[in-house]
Amino acid sequence: MSERIRVLLPEEEVDARIQAIGEQVSRDYAGRQVHLICVLKGGSFFMCELAKRITVPVSMDFMAVSSYGGGTESKGVVKIVKDLDEPIKDKDVLVVEDIVDSGRTLSYLLEMLKNRGPKSLHLCTLLDKPDRRVVDVDVDYTGFQIPDEFVVGYGLDYDQRYRNLPYIGVIEFDQD
Ligand code: IMP
Ligand code: MG
Repeated sequence: MSERIRVLLPEEEVDARIQAIGEQVSRDYAGRQVHLICVLKGGSFFMCELAKRITVPVSMDFMAVSSYGGGTESKGVVKIVKDLDEPIKDKDVLVVEDIVDSGRTLSYLLEMLKNRGPKSLHLCTLLDKPDRRVVDVDVDYTGFQIPDEFVVGYGLDYDQRYRNLPYIGVIEFDQD
């Protein structure tokens, strides 16, 4: 079996959308500092690009959770693999994710972060697959809503590959 990548969102389109979100975040957080939390590894490309386009003061931290095995289906099990380095108490926190799929990872994560007493807590995701939602999640900033297809690129992987693609693509498998 071999794999092909079909372009879903070309690089220019993704970059333009990130620029627009960056401007929106800068307006919404005017006069404040925004504390970006990246959910590793998928959110890292998006967070770096977004951070470059935010004009208010920015600080950043990283955390890693695991919700998937090697495949393409959520197991509904969320484990904190790497916690934040710094407390978020009284900070204006913006969680930056690659994709909201079932919503299990994010609802767990947001609940946990809320308990640490941030001044505010919002969510920004590059991609959203609304058709797949199992658990409700309030998303404040969305890059793109996409259909129920497994995508890679811009931080998103399939078995740890393709994160480095500068565009979003759909992975297709050929029987050969
Ligand atoms: P959820 O808990 O089902 O919302 O899954 C969230 C996580 O699953 C994301 O942060 C991704 O790491 C991964 N994921 C969900 N859909 C995709 C996809 O289409 N491609 C790659 N990773 C995905
Ligand atoms: Mg992720």
